[in-house]
Amino acid sequence: MSALEGKTLIVTAGPTIEPIDPVRFLSNHSTGKMGYAIAGALAARGARVVLVSGRTALDTPAGVERVDVLSAEEMYRAVMERFEASDGAVMCAAVADYTPVEVSPVKMKKSDDDLVIRLKRTKDIAAEAGRRKGDRMLMGFALETDHEQENALGKLRRKNLDFIVLNSLRDPGAGFAGDTNKITIIDRQGEITDCPLESKRAAAERIADRIEAWFAARGC
Ligand code: CTP
Repeated sequence: MSALEGKTLIVTAGPTIEPIDPVRFLSNHSTGKMGYAIAGALAARGARVVLVSGRTALDTPAGVERVDVLSAEEMYRAVMERFEASDGAVMCAAVADYTPVEVSPVKMKKSDDDLVIRLKRTKDIAAEAGRRKGDRMLMGFALETDHEQENALGKLRRKNLDFIVLNSLRDPGAGFAGDTNKITIIDRQGEITDCPLESKRAAAERIADRIEAWFAARGC
């Protein structure tokens, strides 16, 4: 029997959308493919998976319960409402770090002047989950362009994660777009596992293996 049988796991995936006015927003290039693949892999091993998803063009994986959100604030609330009752979370979403201070209730009209949009920091969902973690499993992601392992390990420690999955934008075939990924998994002990370039589905199975082993090692 899989150690994931009966576990409740939250997976965040996709981009967040930060509104400027009723028709415009700030966002990023995340497609949600990696998070959806992880959600599907965990559900196939018997976990109850709640996928908290930003806007994507993907179908919900079999056996997964999906909660749709748009902004970082909505994603924060959807995760925090469910975190206490969960056994852990995989924070795969590309959450905006900044959001407009003011959202215009009407469509903004252009003028000849430059436009300045003031941004404020969003709440860090992974870091807050790290503070409330207890004995739950927590995995985060890091997309880096330089000093990759050092930066990723720093994020793992700051956010109190058990694992951080590193994507290097220097690796061809890794990152947001496409169906492949090249990941490095770093655990709390600083142990580094470099994985080959492979399909996002295969990378998701590898990630699910590590999560399953984490629960198995605790005998729970
Ligand atoms: N994350 C989150 N909530 C946020 C921002 C990030 O949960 N508001 C999570 C992501 O889902 C991912 C990890 O934190 O698991 C990424 O860490 P972060 O430090 O935010 O990455 P970057 O935004 O790329 O950071 P930096 O600008 O510091 O490189």
